[in-house]
Amino acid sequence: MTTKERLLELLTARTGEFISGQDVATALGISRAAVWKAIRSLEQDGCQINAVTGKGYCLVDCNDRVYAAGIRKFLRCGSNFYYPQVFPVLPSTNDTVKALAAEGAPEGVVVLAEAQTAGKGRMRRQFFSPDGTGIYMSILLRPKLAAEDALFITTAAAAAVADAIEAATGENAGIKWVNDVYLRGLKVCGILTEGALGLEEGNLEYAVLGIGINAIAPQNGFPEEIQGIAGAVFPQDARCADLRNRQIADVLDRFYLYYMRVSEKTFLPSYRSRSILRDKAVNVIRGGTVRPAVAREIDEECRLRVDYIDGALEWISSGEVSVRSAEGYQ
Ligand code: BTN
Repeated sequence: MTTKERLLELLTARTGEFISGQDVATALGISRAAVWKAIRSLEQDGCQINAVTGKGYCLVDCNDRVYAAGIRKFLRCGSNFYYPQVFPVLPSTNDTVKALAAEGAPEGVVVLAEAQTAGKGRMRRQFFSPDGTGIYMSILLRPKLAAEDALFITTAAAAAVADAIEAATGENAGIKWVNDVYLRGLKVCGILTEGALGLEEGNLEYAVLGIGINAIAPQNGFPEEIQGIAGAVFPQDARCADLRNRQIADVLDRFYLYYMRVSEKTFLPSYRSRSILRDKAVNVIRGGTVRPAVAREIDEECRLRVDYIDGALEWISSGEVSVRSAEGYQ
């Protein structure tokens, strides 16, 4: 643990109480100057700390900023795998991780931002990324996988997010094939995985797994074009200390477990059982054509079976087609 992490642990254990600079220095075995430096660094991470002369330092309760030490505090099985870094604002966390990957950054680098100015969704859509209420994170992976199996990174991530949301809310989280997570009939998470092919044919050099979660309802609501489609995991008044740090760590830990055994597809039971399209009327969109069908089960390869209304049956793979529910959600 770094000095900053030990300091955060100490302050968190006594949230709302003042601890003198000398007591902190003694507890951590460091100088007063080092305490001050670590306090400054925590503040730069977005931590709110009251510093009062003669009283010392007090961690303010209800601190829901995302910061690296806050995430590390809750990481369990993934704590030696992930290297989280948090930025106040970025154009797109996926683009930042792609640039780091090209420079040779190791697997497990995680870039998060409190806001994105050019958050990207699938099919060149934008991903609404307002400040301070979402989870916008991208993970650098260097899996030993054939490019065609990269889809399993995305589906494993969708299952990890849905499992984490269900654990936090106690409500059923669904997955709309192939990678959108739904809660209470609204989309609360989208996933965009981007990859680069290696020199060895057919293998991935790296994958950037981008996860966007509408964690807390945005203060000014959702933009008109996604109203009735997008929702948030928590209402505004649920905001409390480390709500998002805890959620981020849980998603990362759960994804780590699935990813470590991705070729065994341990995520499949969760992924398949959460399908919200099963037996629903859908439109299958390929190029410019739209074919009405009924969605059925998902197979071991994460392909979706659709029964067209003319009697034909097809197993469709993501990438080649998109499926829209005929009931309205995207
Ligand atoms: C979708 O819904 O179509 C996918 C949305 C993916 C959004 C996330 S937010 C973090 C990462 N950075 C991006 O620019 N996009 C992904």
